[in-house]
Amino acid sequence: MCPKNCDALPTPPQDMISGMQIRKAVVILLLATTQGWLFTDRTSAAQDAGSEAKYGDTVFQPGALWLDDHGAHINAHGGGVLFVPGKTSQGGTYYWFGEHKVGGELGNTAQVGVRVYSSKNLTAWKDEGIALKVTDEANTDLQRGCVLERPKVIYNRKTKKFVMWFHLELAGRAYTAARSGVAVADQVAGPYSYLGSFRPNARVWPLNAPPTSKYPVGPGDEAELKRIQNTGGPYDGYPTNIIYRRDFAGGQMARDMTLFVDEDGRAYHIYASEENGTLHISQLSDDYLRPAGRYVRVFAGSHHEAPALFKANGRYFLFSSHCTGWAPNAGRLAVADSIWGPWQELGNPWKGPEQKSSVSYGTQSTFVLPVEGHPGAFIFMADEWRPKNAIDGRHVWLPISWEKGQPVLEWQDRWDLSVFKKPGFSRGNTAR
Ligand code: DGJ
Repeated sequence: MCPKNCDALPTPPQDMISGMQIRKAVVILLLATTQGWLFTDRTSAAQDAGSEAKYGDTVFQPGALWLDDHGAHINAHGGGVLFVPGKTSQGGTYYWFGEHKVGGELGNTAQVGVRVYSSKNLTAWKDEGIALKVTDEANTDLQRGCVLERPKVIYNRKTKKFVMWFHLELAGRAYTAARSGVAVADQVAGPYSYLGSFRPNARVWPLNAPPTSKYPVGPGDEAELKRIQNTGGPYDGYPTNIIYRRDFAGGQMARDMTLFVDEDGRAYHIYASEENGTLHISQLSDDYLRPAGRYVRVFAGSHHEAPALFKANGRYFLFSSHCTGWAPNAGRLAVADSIWGPWQELGNPWKGPEQKSSVSYGTQSTFVLPVEGHPGAFIFMADEWRPKNAIDGRHVWLPISWEKGQPVLEWQDRWDLSVFKKPGFSRGNTAR
């Protein structure tokens, strides 16, 4: 069966993994494995290619194919979830937004846009189509082939608009643009109208920059500027305190990102900046459409990606990763009493055998979802990327447990929401 918005899809076989294709793939894979045709060095704990979570199942199966109401693997990578309270006795609805990926390596660029799904119970997801579409117009921000990553949607109570932010790279320019894209809609599932893209916080100094360093780069900075490389990862001699000064006039680089709305309605954009060397936490304007002009630099020179921020018991927690491209690495966790910091690194939150926890069980964080009706219950959402065949990337959702006031991640092959009734899985949280 064809999902909604088929016209938006390039070639169906590349674009959807169906139940039948899965069964064919399983037969081939079984043969390949038993005949010794295949060698795999995957470090992930994800299940065999054959395992699938069907629409209507009420258990989570991290790493399995996760089928929507059309029988297609959920195509919402690097995503986030927004809960929309219900006006009727039917209760509210969750909306899951993410990168729609196509098959092969082409899927590492945006060929379709941002896809959205809805669910009442967090396991059965209904395809709601494409919330934001790429275009065929040349030289535009959303030109097919751009990189559109990690979309997140929040709701603004004052304007009554749904606001989407994402990491945007311009078509054909690899990861050099490092911009933030913003789109807006009246209805949660869209369609979203694209407002534009920019590098945030142009002509704004970070709140925590020492007064003596609040001046743009000049002739005396040449030697340090020459040390800047655009590897996206750490390297010897990374100049920790110059890139934000270099980018003062044009705005700060913004790649991997998330959004967070605090209890007081203030929203924040958390993004990997300064050639991925430093995270920025940046307050949004009251309408959530622009930066408010207040931001801090966090973990300067430590290279974090994949930020996922949440609040429990009045404290702010931040999951993230190291910077190793599509390859998994050890997870990271930090805590702060104020969103502006100081932030304290707590180490790798993953438990389990070193071989698996040191690579986050093959995953990278994308979002933390507070579970409605279960105060203090949070789901950690991550991606297991498959860059050679992007559409096959897997979703890993795990219940967050707590040890000595700190969130902990433990692999589970199968679990359901009743886990949050167990001691250790609920933080008695009142703050969302
Ligand atoms: C890791 C990031 O977290 C992903 O969103 C993506 O940008 C890849 N790097 C690209 O290599």
